[in-house]
Amino acid sequence: MLKLIPYPQKIKILEGQAENLDNIEKKIKKTGLGKEGYRLFIKDKVVIEAEHEAGLFYAQKTLEQLKENLPVPYLEIEDKPKYSHRGYMLDCSRHFFTIEEIKKQIDMLALFKINMFHWHLTNDQGWRVQIDKYPLLTEIGSQREQTAGDKTPVKGFYTKEQIKEIVEYCKERHIEVIPEIDMPGHFSAAIASYPFLSCTEEKIKVAEGYGIFPNIACAGKDKTYEFCYDVLDEIAQLFPYEYIHLGGDEALKLYWIDCPHCQKAIKDNGLKNEEELQGYFMTKMVKYLNQKGKKVINWNDGMLGDNIEGDITVHYWRQTKECNEVVRKEAKKNRGIIISPFFSYYLDYPHGMTPLKKTYNYQIDSDIEENVIGLEAPLWTEHVLDVDRLEYMTYPRLLAVAERAWTQNADYTGFLQRLSMFGKIFDKHAINYCKDYNPNIIKGKLDVAKFFLNALGKVGKGNLKARKLTNKKLKNKYKN
Ligand code: ACM
Ligand code: ZN
Repeated sequence: MLKLIPYPQKIKILEGQAENLDNIEKKIKKTGLGKEGYRLFIKDKVVIEAEHEAGLFYAQKTLEQLKENLPVPYLEIEDKPKYSHRGYMLDCSRHFFTIEEIKKQIDMLALFKINMFHWHLTNDQGWRVQIDKYPLLTEIGSQREQTAGDKTPVKGFYTKEQIKEIVEYCKERHIEVIPEIDMPGHFSAAIASYPFLSCTEEKIKVAEGYGIFPNIACAGKDKTYEFCYDVLDEIAQLFPYEYIHLGGDEALKLYWIDCPHCQKAIKDNGLKNEEELQGYFMTKMVKYLNQKGKKVINWNDGMLGDNIEGDITVHYWRQTKECNEVVRKEAKKNRGIIISPFFSYYLDYPHGMTPLKKTYNYQIDSDIEENVIGLEAPLWTEHVLDVDRLEYMTYPRLLAVAERAWTQNADYTGFLQRLSMFGKIFDKHAINYCKDYNPNIIKGKLDVAKFFLNALGKVGKGNLKARKLTNKKLKNKYKN
């Protein structure tokens, strides 16, 4: 068996054997296989054909893996991806990763034919992208002194030059970079830099614990909108691709309920509630970016108001009943959906909770299937302190998502057999991959218990209280 991941759509094995794959002829021609598809012929020499450079690139990635299989039989491969969006998200806010560390992962993404690098650049615990008009975002917002009393500062940001370097590095590997500027929630680092952004304008620190914070961007003040437009102007210039991710997740509305500006915006615009206010806020951002030729992505829990207008793609992560319903409703509006289910694709959770098998076997609901544009595995880094841990959590689980995003015919047993060779490839690239990716029940449960005990100790003070209070206030406000 040829040990290839993702497995190609069609392989025909012929008589004969190739000892090396170094003599390659490349042809750009009409293949009918789309931009990323290719044909690969291995006989006494290697011929690759594609309609576009991207297809030739993927043929070469297949060859790179086949070189680990030598000698290989003479063969013909015809291949093209199932989805146009095959993604990996890296959170560089909670912990900071250097340009070199990121490039090392980009090489892996390319090898597994992933074509979207979703770069999560802002959150409560750190603002990581240079914005010329608002220098305090990086002067103040890019550092926190400690996390839950650990006495360890975390700091760092990417200059515009460094961002361009990553964009260029990705471009050479046919990977698009999708920046995420999370708003209106997860905004503490921005508010710490510019307190006028919040409802209360109280001075706060960059968050030193994890969780969900009620101090979010005020959706009733012109100054907030101006700030967001200005930031997006610079982001849109810096990232040449179509998509910009604006988060929208976990925006706790506690302060909005009491804020005169937010309440005035609700009244003046005939909105029903605070969820619709988020939709109103996001619609403004979407329309602003749409007229610059950009598309927006939002996490599904940010779309509960059901009133976002414009060109927006849904990022499905939250799997509660009401958030599943959001995705179904958006599908009916004919919006594209990116699949990142929390319980199957979140790489930050231990292998005991999300074993490789579970990741590989995730099934998309048939009622949204038609709208799915792709799959993406996110790595949030609250508990990922360095690149060794990043790799341990990411690999080989990311390969399961990469294969499901590319291959039409999923086959978990075949995947596991083919995976047996990838230790060699990971070792060659000095990747600290996890070897016990389907741990036995006892070890798995221990891993999970250890993870959650550690995580609980790092949750920011007042998190649960704020959530409870928000729900109580909303219930009182809207009882009739
Ligand atoms: C998310 O995990 N907050 C999108
Ligand atoms: Zn407000």
